[in-house]
Amino acid sequence: MTRKKRVAVLISGRGSNMTALIKAAKAADYPAEIVGVFSNRAAAAGLGTASADGIQTASLAQSSFDSRLDFENALTKILENWAVDFICLAGFMRILTPQFTERWLGRAINIHPSLLPAYKGLDTHARAIADGVSEAGCTVHFVTPGLDEGPAIAQARVPVRPDDTAESLAARILIEEHKLYPKALEMLASGQITYNG
Ligand code: GRF
Repeated sequence: MTRKKRVAVLISGRGSNMTALIKAAKAADYPAEIVGVFSNRAAAAGLGTASADGIQTASLAQSSFDSRLDFENALTKILENWAVDFICLAGFMRILTPQFTERWLGRAINIHPSLLPAYKGLDTHARAIADGVSEAGCTVHFVTPGLDEGPAIAQARVPVRPDDTAESLAARILIEEHKLYPKALEMLASGQITYNG
């Protein structure tokens, strides 16, 4: 069997998508292994979850660095030490510089809780409800310099119900996120999908 691709997950908070990736990657025939979890917040709950699973973790606060570039260079060193093939952003709440995204172009993916290109950015669920749309969902996409703009790899759809709140819609979408992200990483790590711009 070919070598499993080495993957780092970047988080800022609870890390439920990270947990879904870790769980999927435990399967013997999954083409990737999660070798490290990084957070820009030392208090991120997901760091504890990953450590408890025996996965190495690291955290760096951008505030300890003079610039965004210095922070990202330190992050890159960590990822290189982990000999990472791919990175998965999972609720990572930092804007990345074009230098960083170019370096990882085709090797970095993100999950976003909307049917991109609709509702880039924050508060996606509340905005979808306010617009009265009948369908919402989530997208896994390649990370490019523009926020939430890279080519989509996979999407999952859910209905928006008349009595939905941002919270109830987010919970319905999150269930799909946890299925979609492992599938998308599997496609990438197995070479079924590659970035071509
Ligand atoms: C998810 O909804 C993800 O789509 C968005 O941020 C949230 C992270 O949740 N980018 P979790 O930390 O994976 O639980």
